[in-house]
Amino acid sequence: MLDADVPPTPIAAVVLAAGKSTRMRSRLPKVLHPVCGRPILAHILHALTDAGVGRRIAVVGHEAETVRGAIDNYFGAGQIEYAYQTEQKGTGHAVQMAENAFDGFTGTVLVLAGDTPLLSSEVLKLLLTEHAQTGATATVLTAVLPDAGAYGRIVRGENGEVLGIVEAKDATPEQKRIGEINTGVFAFDAVALFTALRDLQPNNAQGELYLTDVLGLLRNAGKTVRAVVSTDTDVILGVNTRVELAEIGAKMRSRILRDLMLSGVTIEDPANTYVEAGVTIGQDTTLLPLTRLAGKTIIGEGCVLGPNANITDATIGDNVKARACFIESAVVGNNCKVGPFAHIRPGSRLEAGARIGNFVEINRSTLGEKVAAGHLTYIGDATVGAGTNIGAGTITCNYDGYAKHKTVIGENAFIGTHSTLVAPVSVGDRAFVAAASAVTEDVPADALAIARQRQTTKEGWAERRRTEKTIQSGSEPKQ
Ligand code: UD1
Ligand code: MG
Repeated sequence: MLDADVPPTPIAAVVLAAGKSTRMRSRLPKVLHPVCGRPILAHILHALTDAGVGRRIAVVGHEAETVRGAIDNYFGAGQIEYAYQTEQKGTGHAVQMAENAFDGFTGTVLVLAGDTPLLSSEVLKLLLTEHAQTGATATVLTAVLPDAGAYGRIVRGENGEVLGIVEAKDATPEQKRIGEINTGVFAFDAVALFTALRDLQPNNAQGELYLTDVLGLLRNAGKTVRAVVSTDTDVILGVNTRVELAEIGAKMRSRILRDLMLSGVTIEDPANTYVEAGVTIGQDTTLLPLTRLAGKTIIGEGCVLGPNANITDATIGDNVKARACFIESAVVGNNCKVGPFAHIRPGSRLEAGARIGNFVEINRSTLGEKVAAGHLTYIGDATVGAGTNIGAGTITCNYDGYAKHKTVIGENAFIGTHSTLVAPVSVGDRAFVAAASAVTEDVPADALAIARQRQTTKEGWAERRRTEKTIQSGSEPKQ
């Protein structure tokens, strides 16, 4: 859907992601390295959708199939289109490779690099709106930097009109002093762009086909070329090394936390709180230090998470308290309490008001409303009915060395401490299991199961032993 600000011209984007990323020193292609849990390239593709861009074409080359596989896996096959650039002959050449995708397309083409994850949809909208309103053939997004370094410089004429871009390596000393740089983000009229690309020549220091030369070509052909200055200079920050990966990650993290705080989430110590892109959190939830929320996690309202709550791909209801715990691919209902030192593993579901306490592990199990398992317990492949109490040290023995088996516990049952439930086994509603029982047979509803040896008490045994030992050794016992 198009944003109200953006006029309804069809917009497609070409994202350049074919380059080799030697400086990352990684087997993983650079654009797939995650920043706040999301591949770098996916951040850009998300921002494009948020800016109202209908089609997204990624130009891939280096490790093309790996990039394509990961991105298709992330967005779903068919969401992103691909063009292949087998040899990297420059940014202009890369865009040429996408030309087939634009057969008959007469709208606007955005061109941008695939390694700048901080590029926001707001900045893209600014560029698209400006481009549409001025009717320019090409609009380049620029930024003014105190040190323009290796960036392409924007060369302007006497009246401030954009004449073209000169790459740092090709610039005169005077041009090098220009502070306004090319961010690498452009909006073009599609037909004019692909026509001009045919005229590119590799007459430059790098022997490449520069996309940036298109601006000069268009201007010489009498077309309007404009620039929009972005006040947000983070848009240019590309990831080239793992140092930059961490720096950009930190900026992204602050941005995510800031948005959350402004939306009504309390974050006690943002410097020590980690929330990945795409996590949603309800109003009046508080995040305490060292909390990490990752993946496709959804958090309700009024929760207190942390200190040290680690939650990945989980759905957490309202008013949940989770301290020092790991929760992965699980659902936790309203008003539940988890931790400290609890592990809720994939495929688990805690219904409203359940309490999971110290050193308790729940795996592929459903616990009904208000189930309590407060201490030192393993519940695996089990269903536990509402209101049941699981005593300290209870273990469901779900694995026999060959396969996993189910334990089914009814409602309002009472499992005594240190019980061993050998699956497959069931315990009926309201049944009791005596402490330290090894339950191997089903326990019917309302029954008491005692599955341990009866206690033998030998009166005077300890005293007799003491006397015997004293005679044998000739001395009193040490204790
Ligand atoms: C480019 C711009 C420069 C701008 C800078 C902003 C050109 C000639 N220069 O320089 O003006 O200031 O970006 O960051 O465009 N890529 C391909 N195929 C290629 C070459 C590059 O897909 O053949 C991709 C890269 O993977 C990267 C992007 O295009 O994502 C930019 O390429 P890069 O080599 O980093 O260009 P810069 O020299 O930084
Ligand atoms: Mg670059």
